[in-house]
Amino acid sequence: MNPDLFSVKDKVVHVSGGSRGIGRTIALAFHEAGAKVVVSARSEQALKATGLEYEVCDVTNQDAIDRTVAGIVARHGRLDVLFNVAGINYRHAAETFPAAKFDEIMAVNVRGNYFMASASGRVMVKQRSGKIVNVASLHTTQSIQGVSAYGTSKGAIGSMTRALAVEWAPYNVQVNAIAPGFIVTDLNRKLWENPAMRGWVEARTPATRLGTPDDLLGAAFFLATAASDFVTGVVLSVDGGFNAGSLWPLEVPR
Ligand SMILES: NC(=O)c1ccc[n+]([C@@H]2O[C@H](COP(=O)([O-])OP(=O)(O)OC[C@H]3O[C@@H](n4cnc5c(N)ncnc54)[C@H](OP(=O)(O)O)[C@@H]3O)[C@@H](O)[C@H]2O)c1
Repeated sequence: MNPDLFSVKDKVVHVSGGSRGIGRTIALAFHEAGAKVVVSARSEQALKATGLEYEVCDVTNQDAIDRTVAGIVARHGRLDVLFNVAGINYRHAAETFPAAKFDEIMAVNVRGNYFMASASGRVMVKQRSGKIVNVASLHTTQSIQGVSAYGTSKGAIGSMTRALAVEWAPYNVQVNAIAPGFIVTDLNRKLWENPAMRGWVEARTPATRLGTPDDLLGAAFFLATAASDFVTGVVLSVDGGFNAGSLWPLEVPR
């Protein structure tokens, strides 16, 4: 067996959307494991607070994306892994969904992540190696009311993951996605303070609990290392079984 199957030592890892929440947890874990980690996002203050090397980058700005990727390559000579984590959400009924909010969600979650992957893929294809890990959602495969624009954007992440995986597989660049279930972060902390919402998730998730960003680390290391060299185009659910099905209140003999 390759002893470096799960090693990230000295790998150059960029976490876009790495200043808070899921991205920050992944970035700090990879740093701890010996990777050279660069985080990017819009708020410099939050980036600085990670204590990691950072670039200010709004993924809705094409020049900022190109500058960020070029900066990482200039300083480190290569780019091994991109975690495409930047994402936003807005809840509103579909029949009156504000067009400006729809455009904002698409600009970050779809266009921004696509062009971050494109700029990173350019480097990786030339290197003939690389890993891109997108962040999908349970909305990639199923829906809940009130988040139709977000769901539309996360459906696109599934398609994008497969499209880029196919296009870059001949160049030894693997593109996969993690589809987190309900993970408590700044994006949704208020929502889960509501006992009715929390109770609904606990009843509907076979693992009977909300997730934490730490729950995503196993999948993150798998998809960013040699362990997944023959895995590409996959959307890996990390959701306590939410996508697989649900428990029901039937007692069975055991
Ligand atoms: N939490 C969940 O339950 C859950 C479930 C499924 C999927 N996800 C996905 O996981 C990802 C991270 O979510 P999270 O819960 O960790 O959210 P979060 O705590 O709100 O973090 C979002 C990150 O994205 C950055 N970001 C937002 N807009 C950006 C932009 N225009 N350009 C660059 N960076 C930007 C934020 O920093 P700045 O605001 O400073 O830019 C922050 O670093 C998202 O794609 C989300 O859709 C989350």
